[in-house]
This record gives sequence, C-alpha cells and structure tokens, in this order.
Amino acid sequence: SLDGYPHYMLKEIHEQPDSIRNAMRGRLDDQNATAIFGGLNLTPQQLRSVDRIILTGCGTSWHSALVGEYLIEEFARIPVEVEYASELRYRNPPIEPGTLVFGITQSGETADTLAALVETKRKGHRTLAINNVVGSSIAQAADGGVYLHAGPEIGVASTKAYTSQCCTLAMLALYFGRLRHMSYEAGQEFITALRRLPAAVEQSLTCESRVREVAEKYQSATTFLYMGRQYNFPTALEGALKLKEISYIHAEGYPAAEMKHGPIALVDEHTPSVFIVPRGTTYEKVIANMEEVKARSGPVIAVTCHADPAIDNLADDVIRVPETPEFLQPIVSVIPLQLLAYNVALLRGCDVDKPRNLAKSVTVE
Ligand code: F6R
Repeated sequence: SLDGYPHYMLKEIHEQPDSIRNAMRGRLDDQNATAIFGGLNLTPQQLRSVDRIILTGCGTSWHSALVGEYLIEEFARIPVEVEYASELRYRNPPIEPGTLVFGITQSGETADTLAALVETKRKGHRTLAINNVVGSSIAQAADGGVYLHAGPEIGVASTKAYTSQCCTLAMLALYFGRLRHMSYEAGQEFITALRRLPAAVEQSLTCESRVREVAEKYQSATTFLYMGRQYNFPTALEGALKLKEISYIHAEGYPAAEMKHGPIALVDEHTPSVFIVPRGTTYEKVIANMEEVKARSGPVIAVTCHADPAIDNLADDVIRVPETPEFLQPIVSVIPLQLLAYNVALLRGCDVDKPRNLAKSVTVE
C-alpha cells in the first residue's frame, strides 16, 4: 500500500533508511570485523582463490555495479570488471578460472542478466546473484547469492533497490578484503561507517524542500548534465537516468573531467549542470569543472556536504547532504537526485510510477 504517500516512488525513496538497515541486518560481524553471507555456497578456499570479479547487470543495477567496482578494488584489491549483461552474454570474453561472476538485479527476472549468468555458468564459472526478489529466476539460476531484503519495489524507477545494492557491494568489499589483507582495525572502522549509514540517509532526505525549489526552477529545461568523479561518477549516471526515465528530459551523466572532451559543448544558460561534489580526492578538480560551466553561463547545481565559499559562490543552487567516508557517499548523494527526478516529473505532469515505454522487469531481450 501507499501508506499515505502520493506515489510508490516517493514512498520507496523514504523507505531507504530502513531498506539499508535490512540489507545489513545479521550481516555485520563485530567479533571478526567482517561481513557474514549465508548463501554464497562457496568454501573458504574457493572464496580466497577468487582473483577476478565480473559484475554484470542492466540499467540502474549496472550503475550499482560501477560503485561495486570502486569498492571491491579499493578494499579487497581484486580486479573488477563491470559488464552490461546484454553485451556480456554475446561477447564471449576470455574468463580465467579464478573469476567470480555476480549478476546484480532488483527483479531477478531481467532476461539479459539471466542469460549472461547462465552463459558464464555453462562455461564453468562460479555465478552469484545480488537480487531483491526471493526465489526469482536469476536467484535460482545462480550458484548462490545475497538477497537485498529491500521489500517490494513497485515504482518503475529503481530507488531503494539501488542503495541496497550499493550497500551490499560495500559489505562484499569488506568480506573479501578481510579474507585477504584488510586489517582487523580497518574492518572495524568499515563496520562503524556502515552502521552510521541509515542515519545519514535519513538526514539526506531532509533536503526535500530544497530540492523542490530546484525542481521548480529548472522544470522546463530540455537537457540536464550530471557530473561526478570516482565513487560519484556512477551517481552522476544514476541521477541522469532517473531524470530521463520519469520526466522525459534529456539528461547525460559523465565523469566530471570528461566534460571538456565533448559535453561542455551542450552548456548554455538553459542547460543546468548537476555536480556531485562531496569532499574527497578530486574535490578541487570538480570545483574547477564547475567554474568552466559557470564561465559559459551554465546554471550550476551542487550536491555537496559542508559549506564551502568556493562552492557557495559558484553554484546557483546548493543541496547539502551529510558527509560519510568517501566509499559510502554515493548512497547518501543519490537521494537528492532521486528526489529531483521525482519532483521535476511531478511538475511536468508525468506518471511517476509508470513512465511511458518502460516496464518494471524487462523479461525480453
Ligand atoms: C531504472 C530501472 C532499470 C532497471 C533495469 C534492471 O530505474 O529500473 O534501469 O534497473 O531494467 O532491472 P533489474 O534490476 O530488475 O534487473
């Protein structure tokens, strides 16, 4: 039921502090400073011998895979490749014996993701599902997996499944990291950061009235650009996808530094650029990209953490989110982008929960 919300999408956006809590429930092992997964169906030897990981999925699930790539490479030091399931299934890449393939999917019914897993499994590789719907086709086809426990996601635009996928991939990075070289202390710090996450998401949701003002201001734009770097490059892609699928406004997500290699040509006074710019390794560089947009009269919307005159003076609109360690920031920073898409779509009279031409699960290729 809608529980008093006007749309499932808005309800599901607001459920995220809880859905993230549920993704973590019973999975954080303080004693050993690691994560616990009951359903991987692999022996400790098999898990330790994993020397390459492929993450595959479609759409929003593919975006969470990109976040997973940063997480697993940083904390577990295992090389990761992210593949569109629709490409992987026909590409026939060389896959080494120590490779583990994860299919990431909310519904567990996406035809291309299922086919990619079936094909890699047929070749003898271990396959796991990161999936929300219990007993789905993909859950059954994989050798094992992790359920998201996000509860039913009804709005066609994926919101809570995405943040739960990112959270689950963070726990997997911890798990694989602790099987290898990650120290006990680092594992404990990681767990502490995860435990603070639901409250940070809760706080992020308080940006809603600010986001509504931004939506009102830019509702008539015909193109939006979204830019971020590192962990928030996928956030830029996801923000753009949310906007285009429910408001039908053309939007593109880019790693911010790629801007000057093409998309900057789109910038004019009618084309808003949304920058996801929390503090971190590339903070100053993203601010320099904001300056480049400003110099070409492009409206700048900044999603950032603490007040910083460098950003406040540059941006036309600032949306603040709480600061977390860099590796969890995508989960917090995507919230205002979900809300922005929702509010713009609403103002444009679009059917938020059932956007045209889209289905909740894509069971044909
Ligand atoms: C976007 C969206 C789609 C799905 C994609 C994969 O909001 O919902 O891009 O993410 O169709 O679906 P699942 O995760 O069910 O495999």
